[in-house]
Amino acid sequence: MSPKFDLVVVNGIVVTAADAVPCCIGIKGGKIHTLSPSFSSDEIEGAQIIDAEGAYVMPGGVDAHVHLCQDLKTGAHGLGGECADDFETGSRSAAAGGTTTIITFATQTRDETDRSLIKVVEAYNARAEATGSFIDYGFHIIIVRNDPEILENELPILVRDWGVTSCKLFMTYKSQRLTDTQLLDVMLASQKNEITTMIHAENGDMIQWLAEKLENKGMVAPYYHALSRPPVVEMEATNRAIALAGLIENPILFVHIGSPLAAANVRNAQTQGMPIYAETCPQYLNLTYDDLQKFHSPTCFENSKHICSPPPPPGTSDHDELYLGLHNGTFTIFSSDHCPFRYDHPHGKPSGDLVSRKPGSFRFIPNGIPGVETRMSLLYTGGLATGRITPRKFVELTSTNPSKLYGLYPKKGAIMPGSDADLVIWHPQKTFEPFALSNDMLHHNVDYTPYEGKEFVNWPRYTILRGRVIWAEGELKGKPYDGEYLKRGPSYFGTGPAGRRRDARKTATWLR
Ligand code: URP
Ligand code: ZN
Ligand code: ZN
Ligand code: ZN
Repeated sequence: MSPKFDLVVVNGIVVTAADAVPCCIGIKGGKIHTLSPSFSSDEIEGAQIIDAEGAYVMPGGVDAHVHLCQDLKTGAHGLGGECADDFETGSRSAAAGGTTTIITFATQTRDETDRSLIKVVEAYNARAEATGSFIDYGFHIIIVRNDPEILENELPILVRDWGVTSCKLFMTYKSQRLTDTQLLDVMLASQKNEITTMIHAENGDMIQWLAEKLENKGMVAPYYHALSRPPVVEMEATNRAIALAGLIENPILFVHIGSPLAAANVRNAQTQGMPIYAETCPQYLNLTYDDLQKFHSPTCFENSKHICSPPPPPGTSDHDELYLGLHNGTFTIFSSDHCPFRYDHPHGKPSGDLVSRKPGSFRFIPNGIPGVETRMSLLYTGGLATGRITPRKFVELTSTNPSKLYGLYPKKGAIMPGSDADLVIWHPQKTFEPFALSNDMLHHNVDYTPYEGKEFVNWPRYTILRGRVIWAEGELKGKPYDGEYLKRGPSYFGTGPAGRRRDARKTATWLR
């Protein structure tokens, strides 16, 4: 007789977005099969057994904001920079950090010969297939123009054939930003196709104006990148995007919110019943302006390691406010925005010449920092272990809500019969020795971590993908082609609660 289960996880506290209970999990054929307070010895005979020893057992992490194999040199930011991780190295890093699903970005460019979104996705898919992924993956599409025929003809195909049900739009970066009317065009097309619109909300004009002023005064060191994007830049753009989305009742998700001012806009819109969602990331809870001026010399390029957009917030009181937003539901999801650039590389981080030490300008330093592997453990350390968020909230933010928002639920983000058996099992908190992180412990292809030396109070002990252990006790057990491409459905959140904005509903109705 074949065993009832392939794998059982016993003695864990099973945490979902709804509950945290002592419970055993029986897994069969890659799916969650049975949840039970206990199993008899007959039931588990022949199965592989993992003893969680009282630790948390959670749905595997879903990181909905990861940049891999992206052409960042010409198009993406117009800032230069070579994406250091491909699907193999990026997904390997994710697996070691407790993540079992990533959603990465295929990007359109302004290149006239390269306008087709379908061709962009096909080409990007070829890159993913060239190396393979350790974990399951899906794609968002970055749209940088509003060609009516492309939006009309191609979006339905992206949804139907590829399950690409989310797009990202930029309000900054010369080579990518859309004007307000262009934003409205793409939002309306997204809405018609039930595509979730992700917005990078920073006021591009304010940034450009400030950056030129700073440069003219010779203020070019990495720190000035933050001063070229003060919090009001994000506040203005979120406010405007909420108004634009409200005009047509289009649900939007603000990616990488870094400022409490922007979070307050989001909260206010949510209070009005608008379908406005937001994401924040580890860098906004752990880094500050101080990290951009650690080395007080304009020729010291080390400070470029912490450059991302939006920048880390000014001080630690901002961290407290953002943690509050995680607790009170302002933030729907918590993602890494893993955007990997090597430091010691001609197309990497430093602005200027590493050999001659001649400084360049913060304007030419590629934006983005690595963090797909540290995302879960940083939130465990700073949020869960400190009591700022509950274990259930942790699961909601790192797994369940991203699955719901991006059309993967309940295949992903759940521990219920029939769901994929994707799990992260932590170390028992009582016996785990906190440790200081160093980059050589990580599995990405980046030569630094912004969290070098930071103390972590826990780390995933096991990562399980569809019933197979891919990370155990500090060792990778998975392989590059274990991961499968995920065709995604529409957002579980739909168009959001019926708002009080009847004016918007009217506009939305006659436009369709
Ligand atoms: O600085 C950042 N966030 N780089 C990644 C690209 C993006 O805008 O998300
Ligand atoms: Zn962005
Ligand atoms: Zn990003
Ligand atoms: Zn090099």
